[in-house]
Amino acid sequence: MPKVLISDKMDPKAAEIFRARGVEVDEITGKTPEELKAIIGEYDGLAIRSSTRVTQEILDAATNMKVIGRAGIGVDNIDIPAASAKGVVVMNTPFGNSITTAEHAIALMFALARQLPQADASTQAGKWEKSKFMGVELTAKTLGLIGAGNIGGIVAERALGLRMKVIAYDPFLTEERAIELGVEKVNLETLLARADFITLHTPLTDQTRNILSAENLAKTKKGVRIINCARGGLIDEAALKQGLESGHIAGAALDVYATEPAKENALFGTPNFISTPHLGASTTEAQVNVAIQVAEQMSDYLVSGGVTNA
Ligand code: MLT
Repeated sequence: MPKVLISDKMDPKAAEIFRARGVEVDEITGKTPEELKAIIGEYDGLAIRSSTRVTQEILDAATNMKVIGRAGIGVDNIDIPAASAKGVVVMNTPFGNSITTAEHAIALMFALARQLPQADASTQAGKWEKSKFMGVELTAKTLGLIGAGNIGGIVAERALGLRMKVIAYDPFLTEERAIELGVEKVNLETLLARADFITLHTPLTDQTRNILSAENLAKTKKGVRIINCARGGLIDEAALKQGLESGHIAGAALDVYATEPAKENALFGTPNFISTPHLGASTTEAQVNVAIQVAEQMSDYLVSGGVTNA
């Protein structure tokens, strides 16, 4: 019987599915890399979320490993070249948390438009600063999507429902898909110049790293508000801080950071900055979805060799 280790906190549905499909499963979370190395050799599969880092060293010790499944979209915590070199299949669950992440981006857009976290803190501090928190409407504003794939597409649908105009920069977006989504496909320069709100929905790659660099942030419209629920590293955080301090950028809401966990960050305390701790995928529904998907895909592979989302 194949044996899988679940090494990060995951919805119990994952273990149920593995067992129901004839896969033995251990749930052992919170191990140090050394502790993980000591036990990983026993397993044919490893199911993870964000905490476990699958390094070359872990893979070297994983002598029976056949498949690693990430209950989520990004696979940045797995050394893919090292896994491929060993013939280990790496799978993700690209759809299970898309709606949840898109909803978080929309929530942050509202939070920026009406300064909700700041107004909440002020009101609970007994200040009643009614005139301090003048907001802006979303209706008729231009939302610039950097990345119009799965999550970006859902954000576009929601934003159109809010009567926003949506423009998108995405080299992979076809004209047909843009028409279907109801968005205007533009180049990056145009997006930077026209967007009142910019939201990022792209993986971190050599092409997208620092896409909102100091130079590009300087090309944005004065008063722009920026949201990032995708990956840290897409925005130059120091330049973002400067833009917020100078007032060129009216607000920024980040769920992801260049270094995570972001227990310290130069942006903390900057005016008009809103922060959440990589909560993009954190809803009950999304976590059940990704747990089910990862367990189904990994069981299929281990039991019958079926490959999905590898
Ligand atoms: C993902 O890659 O799916 C998201 O970043 C959410 C997560 O941290 O699991």
